[in-house]
Amino acid sequence: MAVAVVTGAARGIGQATAQNLIGAGWQVALTDVDPQVTERAAELGGRAHGIVADVASAEDWQRVVTEANDRLGPVDGLVLNALATDAHPLHEMTPEAWQRQLDVNLTGAFHGLRACLPDLVREGEGRAVIVSSVHANFGLLDVPGYAATKAGQTGLVRQVAAQYGPRLRINCVTPGPIRTALWDGVSEADRQRSGRQTALARMGEPEEVAEVIAFLLSDRSSYITGATIPVDGGWSITKDSA
Ligand SMILES: NC(=O)c1ccc[n+]([C@@H]2O[C@H](COP(=O)([O-])OP(=O)(O)OC[C@H]3O[C@@H](n4cnc5c(N)ncnc54)[C@H](O)[C@@H]3O)[C@@H](O)[C@H]2O)c1
Repeated sequence: MAVAVVTGAARGIGQATAQNLIGAGWQVALTDVDPQVTERAAELGGRAHGIVADVASAEDWQRVVTEANDRLGPVDGLVLNALATDAHPLHEMTPEAWQRQLDVNLTGAFHGLRACLPDLVREGEGRAVIVSSVHANFGLLDVPGYAATKAGQTGLVRQVAAQYGPRLRINCVTPGPIRTALWDGVSEADRQRSGRQTALARMGEPEEVAEVIAFLLSDRSSYITGATIPVDGGWSITKDSA
């Protein structure tokens, strides 16, 4: 039975992805800095295993791979989903906040790929997905670190796809506004306004992103690699003009 590692799996898109993959027959190592990840894994049954780990730590990644190997087996699929974000314009952002976003979003993906690569390519059929964002491609206010790292993730995916194909398929998804705890501080009126910016006139649900990630880890996406796939309700193609 195939084994996947999903980061940031205690809640939101990561949790929905772990749940979807379990339903599709995978065994899943759910990882998160939030200790609640062990409870979330327990709720998913015997094919799930929770590991508390920080994606920004190379040492934690070694432990994740060892524990996933011991409990479930070699890693066949990797979903890099954890994030750090800090909402300040560049002139107000501290170097520490900038660095943490690089460490989690970009260096975390590097550590994760580096740690899992031997497992992923061992049988010539590895799969990986990085959860980027529409911020990779569009100028929105107050998130310079987040946007830069999300764009970096799409570049990393293209490089890794070219380097390790055909033994590894790796793709990015770029979600638009998805109803998760990331939006907890946003008013319902502002959420609805964000939803109306999409062609589908609503925010997305974590399960709708999870479904695309699960597709990209499955045999059904066998001729897709190095791609960046929007899951944004058409947010990227909708513009307003008087
Ligand atoms: N929700 C949206 O509207 C939206 C839009 C575009 C892209 N995304 C992307 O989707 C992904 C998931 O976002 P979400 O909305 O589910 O977020 P979320 O905040 O609900 O969940 C993120 C999870 O990541 C964990 N995490 C944070 N730092 C970590 C670290 N250093 N190591 C391990 N785990 C860590 C958190 O504890 C949390 O459980 C992110 O990459 C985000 O950039 C989300």
